[in-house]
Amino acid sequence: MSGYPDISSIREDFPILKRKIEGHPLVYLDNAATTQKPRQVIDTIRRFYEFHNANIHRGKHTLSEEASELYEKIKEKTANFINAGSWREIVFTRNATEAINLVAYSYGAEFLKEGDEILLTLMEHHANIVPWQMLQEKRGVRLRYINIDNDGLLRMEEFEEKLSERTKLVSVVHVSNVLGAVNPVRDIAEMAHRVGALVLIDAAQSAPHLPLNVREIDADFMVFSSHKMLGPTGIGVLYGKEEILDKMPPFLRGGDMISRVEPFRSYFKEIPWKFEAGTPDICGAIGFGAAIDYLEKIGMEKVEAWDRHLVGIAYELLSEIPGLRIIGPEDRVGALSFLLGELDTERIASFLNSRGISIREGCHCAQPLHRSLGLWGTARASFYIYNTEEEVIRLRDALLELAKIEGIPE
Ligand code: ALA
Repeated sequence: MSGYPDISSIREDFPILKRKIEGHPLVYLDNAATTQKPRQVIDTIRRFYEFHNANIHRGKHTLSEEASELYEKIKEKTANFINAGSWREIVFTRNATEAINLVAYSYGAEFLKEGDEILLTLMEHHANIVPWQMLQEKRGVRLRYINIDNDGLLRMEEFEEKLSERTKLVSVVHVSNVLGAVNPVRDIAEMAHRVGALVLIDAAQSAPHLPLNVREIDADFMVFSSHKMLGPTGIGVLYGKEEILDKMPPFLRGGDMISRVEPFRSYFKEIPWKFEAGTPDICGAIGFGAAIDYLEKIGMEKVEAWDRHLVGIAYELLSEIPGLRIIGPEDRVGALSFLLGELDTERIASFLNSRGISIREGCHCAQPLHRSLGLWGTARASFYIYNTEEEVIRLRDALLELAKIEGIPE
């Protein structure tokens, strides 16, 4: 297993994995919703509050200078993690959703006008749909969608059909939080750029699992969230190309993002600070930095290799369960959504919980995707670096037990 991380030593770093649920050892398979936190992240957060806590960019005292330095260093770390050209291209937000809203309210409201088009896909989760609907309502921008084929993949030929000089922005998910499908974002960016459109990549589900190279993808914007990659909640990332961020107006306004304030006008700081109004989640950013360190110590190639290995086993084992239907392609990352006979997905999730297994059920914040597949919801197991082959077998066994109890025919 040389290409794989040392899972048993990784598991030792996650205190929560020692918990029992309903008398069974916890099998945490809801990683697409949020991941667990290693001791290294928890300790970093505790240390910050115990030794360095102060507001940033404000005081000339030691603690404030320490906190500012710790906070700003994480921008550099984040830039390196995705191979951005500069830390100036990294804006901290609350989460990926807020990062997309920032682009919609700042770039979209400033530069898009009636008749302009934004191209999305039916694979998007709500965070990459609802903010753009604001531009439809307020600016008369037209939203168009790429459909999904029967294998759960994007109909790539539709990009050729739907892209035109009217398209100003293409916003597309890298890895689907339901189907696990990995979209060819490099090709999509190239096609979009050919018609002069900007490209936003929603990397909420890919940043945790895949080595990312934003410059190779040639994304104009990329968004992701700390809590889905071992870091704390409350901190997310907007990457934007420097020349684009430079010309965008601020999104939120107030303290810290200004250089001078007069009663009737204000002057703003440069990027990235002009997009960070008020006191940010200082400790969240520092905890996020510890999460990046943790992932980089393992190596993102190994993180991806283990993820693909586990999802591959899960696909194989679950496919053998009578009446179980996997939704989406075999080649996938992170998430495996399925249905069992005609069972309500709530029944599946609560039965699995009674066996100590945590999964998510429902629409996974992706109602248009489910509707387009003719579904009301799915059950979803999603994996990460601390999950084991034994846990996949426990999932399979629990589902077999449920199928038997419910008399699901083969
Ligand atoms: N989008 C997150 C999920 O898939 C919340 O669970």
